[in-house]
Amino acid sequence: MSGALLIVGCGKMGSALLDGWLNQGRDPNSIHIVEPTEELAVGLRSRQTNVYASFEELPDSLSPSVVLLAVKPQVMEAVVKPYKEYKGAGTVFLSIAAGKTIKFFENILGSDAGIVRTMPNTPAAVGRGITVAYANAPVNAEQKEECQTLLEAVGDVAWIGDEDLMDGVVAVSGSGPAYVFYLTEALAAAGVKAGLPEGLAQQLARATVSGAGELQYQSTEEISQLRINVTSPGGTTAAALEVLMGEDGLQPVMDRAILAAAQRSKDLA
Ligand SMILES: NC(=O)c1ccc[n+]([C@@H]2O[C@H](COP(=O)([O-])OP(=O)(O)OC[C@H]3O[C@@H](n4cnc5c(N)ncnc54)[C@H](OP(=O)(O)O)[C@@H]3O)[C@@H](O)[C@H]2O)c1
Repeated sequence: MSGALLIVGCGKMGSALLDGWLNQGRDPNSIHIVEPTEELAVGLRSRQTNVYASFEELPDSLSPSVVLLAVKPQVMEAVVKPYKEYKGAGTVFLSIAAGKTIKFFENILGSDAGIVRTMPNTPAAVGRGITVAYANAPVNAEQKEECQTLLEAVGDVAWIGDEDLMDGVVAVSGSGPAYVFYLTEALAAAGVKAGLPEGLAQQLARATVSGAGELQYQSTEEISQLRINVTSPGGTTAAALEVLMGEDGLQPVMDRAILAAAQRSKDLA
């Protein structure tokens, strides 16, 4: 069974990737999943994938080309150990665990194991994530390509050549969706203070953030140009941007927020 994919932990993120792979047209029978939560396992079995409650149940003949490590970071060390058995030229370990470094995995699997460390984000659940990936030396070009294809199933992929950049990546795209949700909350709350009924303020804020997000996603123009396009001199947008872009506006707050997240990422690693 070479060329098979093995998912270790199929919760929120693992199942987002699985959905993407099945949508890509992967044969469900080539996908093997270790997931101990029975109610998740039932749903996975109904999709014709091979599901096991533990490592011990996996078939001896299995030789996966990719082992996706998608359990929570705090249990990763204990969970990964037995999977060392799959180490070899034909297998790459693909981790999506926040804060778990290449060194962490090399300490368990050995420095000759092919390991790709990634940072996805939650819009992966709707196929619109961005995943940043870093590979250690044993990973060859073909394996990188295979990982790229697997990760593209849930959105865009960017590779970095310096693992130290991961702290900034975590701070911007990993944690970023929460900032956008908070921006939506703040916009709605400000709308209420401006006299709008709460329900309407929330509806407007949500639709505006989603719509503007879609517009910048589809557009090839610079983001700053999109902003300029909707800002008439002396108009209402200009009045608000004067505040948001002022010395004590959004930028210094965002700078502090990103630095705090990057520092926490360093501390946790
Ligand atoms: N969710 C996100 O937004 C996000 C974003 C970026 C990266 N990530 C990373 O993605 C990884 C998974 O996160 P998640 O949110 O998808 O977590 P999750 O929903 O809790 O999924 C993890 C799954 O792994 C299962 N599991 C526990 N022990 C296992 C074992 N020994 N073998 C196989 N499976 C086991 C868990 O079952 P039990 O619940 O029964 O323990 C759970 O169903 C994490 O490392 C996280 O850092 C997540």
